[in-house]
Amino acid sequence: MTFAAITGVGAYVPERVVTNDDMATMVETSDEWIRSRTGIRERRIASADEASSDLGARAAQAALEDAGLAPNDIDLLVVGTSSPDMVMPSTACLLQTKVGLTCPAFDVMAACTSFVYALQAAASAIEAGRARRVLVVGADALTRLVDFTDRRTCVLFGDGAGAFVLEASEEAGVLGIDLGADGSRPEVLRIPAGGSAMPASHETVDAGLHFVQMNGQEVFKFAVRAIPATTKRALAASNMTIDDLTWLVPHQANQRILDTVADRLHLAHDRVFSNIESLGNTSAASIPLAVSDLYTSGSLHRGDVLGLVGFGAGLTWGAAIVRWTKEDD
Ligand code: UT7
Repeated sequence: MTFAAITGVGAYVPERVVTNDDMATMVETSDEWIRSRTGIRERRIASADEASSDLGARAAQAALEDAGLAPNDIDLLVVGTSSPDMVMPSTACLLQTKVGLTCPAFDVMAACTSFVYALQAAASAIEAGRARRVLVVGADALTRLVDFTDRRTCVLFGDGAGAFVLEASEEAGVLGIDLGADGSRPEVLRIPAGGSAMPASHETVDAGLHFVQMNGQEVFKFAVRAIPATTKRALAASNMTIDDLTWLVPHQANQRILDTVADRLHLAHDRVFSNIESLGNTSAASIPLAVSDLYTSGSLHRGDVLGLVGFGAGLTWGAAIVRWTKEDD
């Protein structure tokens, strides 16, 4: 059987750091409130000339370099994003040209679960023999889509991108994946205007309907149920238990969510990776950015088992169990 294995990892975050004190100059909030409720201290914000495809292109280039591959070696590009550069063409097509790729390219839109969905698409293509080398990118510039006068949302998000190169391998890298969706409650987290249901107009812009709207408490309750459940299903599909996990790498939305999930899964808190303090919620980018941080800090070793878990608007959720097959340096 042909498996998919991670052979390259790349990351990119914009240069501009915006601290909680900076946020307090824009809306009525405080460093104390943001840190105690979310664990976030600062986030990165894309410059005016950086869109999601630019962030993703930088991460993709880094992943290619890490894998020792050239753009021509890639035969499929999958980009997870919910802040596309524009409604069409896809962010994947824009990114493809920026990186010098020539392969088919498409977007996956599952909000903050996009990277896990994209990983499933990529791994399936490899396992089915339809692709041998796939670039998977999670890129989001959600700060472009939040209302910087709404303190309930604007303090949470940051921009960034992360990327994996997946290659066909005899060794199993991507193991079990569990995905799920429940479209019955779109109002919990959405951007109502700008699509075909409510096209952009003066009225929608005046009413701020092109910005993220979120019921934070409902998302919180959903997340702390969904993450443990999907993790357990993906582990079962991999014939593993929670004890086999070296690292749980959840979508970075709120430190209190990560702590609650650790408790519910009876996992030591230091096995649940967190970098939310410095990046905030980077949506589709948060999982590959987290893996990149683990990798570049020397915390990943051949044979380690990672649980990559996302949740977000949709509602969507998903977990991928991955064995780290790269050789240690
Ligand atoms: O990628 C997935 C996306 N989202 C998530 O995962 C979000 C999940 N939810 C959360 O992380 C939390 O619900 C939040 C961090 C969004 C909010 O925390 P909370 O503990 O649920 O606060 P709350 O919404 O119950 O608000 C408590 C108070 C309210 O004031 P009153 O009504 O008690 O007077 C809010 O108006 O805190 C107020 N508040 C703020 N105060 C200072 C809300 N945002 C802020 C703020 N600064 N930025």
